Amino acid sequence: MDDQRISETLAAIAAATDPDAVEAIRIDALGKQGWISAALKGLGAMPPDERTRAAPTIQARRQQVADAIAERKAALDAAALEASLAAETLDLTLPAPDLPKGSVHPVSQVMDELAEIFADMGFAVATGPEIEDDWHNFTALNMPESHPARAMHDTFYFPKEPSPLQGRGLGEGPVGEALDSPRPPIPSPEGEGEKRMLLRTHTSPVQVRTMISQGAPIRIIAPGRVYRSDSDATHTPMFHQVEGLVIDRGIHLGHLKWTLETFLRAFFEREDIVLRLRPSYFPFTEPSVEVDVGFALENGRRVLGGSGDGPGHGWMELLGSGMVNRRVIEMSGLDPDEWQGFAFGVGVDRLAMLKYGMDDLRAFFDGDVRWLKHYGFSPFDQPTLSAGVGARA
Ligand code: PHE
Repeated sequence: MDDQRISETLAAIAAATDPDAVEAIRIDALGKQGWISAALKGLGAMPPDERTRAAPTIQARRQQVADAIAERKAALDAAALEASLAAETLDLTLPAPDLPKGSVHPVSQVMDELAEIFADMGFAVATGPEIEDDWHNFTALNMPESHPARAMHDTFYFPKEPSPLQGRGLGEGPVGEALDSPRPPIPSPEGEGEKRMLLRTHTSPVQVRTMISQGAPIRIIAPGRVYRSDSDATHTPMFHQVEGLVIDRGIHLGHLKWTLETFLRAFFEREDIVLRLRPSYFPFTEPSVEVDVGFALENGRRVLGGSGDGPGHGWMELLGSGMVNRRVIEMSGLDPDEWQGFAFGVGVDRLAMLKYGMDDLRAFFDGDVRWLKHYGFSPFDQPTLSAGVGARA
């Protein structure tokens, strides 16, 4: 055994500064073609007594080199780990990076507030389709063929048979002819053949759908999107309403007034909200009342609360309502001599504008992130009656 070479190898192992260098030494000495391996193999060719003498030394040297290599590798690995731990520090005191946060749109916020307020009065939330048929949207709501809201220029109709993909704008084409064609005064919902589809113009068809599907008694609100062919600073072709419907025995206008007053006081978080019920007309309610809220002018701004009469005060029109017309109750399959009720419909966007002070309705639907950041609400700020339904804007 070449003792000189052994001590050189041991010195090289001790001097190696990276695992690759150690590995190269291992291959050179202990690998298949390594020189120590060759010495071990050489034992076989020796005469037995010489082999017996030489073997222990070679075995011992081989073990010495193997141990030195393992030890050096472990030391270098530990040093490498030590170095990376020192370099790759994680500073847990740094502020977290600012991730983009979504916010709750004022329309959603106000709908949540309404659901919370009405849930407390025992109202469930009902929904209906936005693509509605003219029976539910108009006929069952006692809107005669001649009613202006049924006209093409107010309502978005779907073409009767061919799809809008055929290059025809919605509301054009065969629908116009169908409008003029003679129709029975009150077609039944089963009169499928005559059904014209449209984008619902109000949430009132949910009244009819709920009476038909669930029967009486009923206490629901129905929030959702509605569509009219209208566009300026205060009108968008799509907007939001909440419908309210109560059907029970012995319901009268007093219940309507109390419900609206309770709702508006909770919503605007003011006990001094004063309502004025003004006679009006809707085909689906009788009598019909328009509801105004009193406001006072403060520095040119309308502040809700108090009577609208007197100098510096005024009444603001807020919503339409009334006692459900007995013809509507009848067409919805209930006996109007047994069941009465009231209904109301209010613009959600308008409520949001009034409560949170936006002035251009169109900005609601522009999808401008800056507007949403400014007027949006935190998703953690759930409206609850106990904490106040008003969000911290
Ligand atoms: N549907 C009516 C509208 O859109 C509002 C309304 C609803 C009026 C319920 C009375 C009762 O203008």
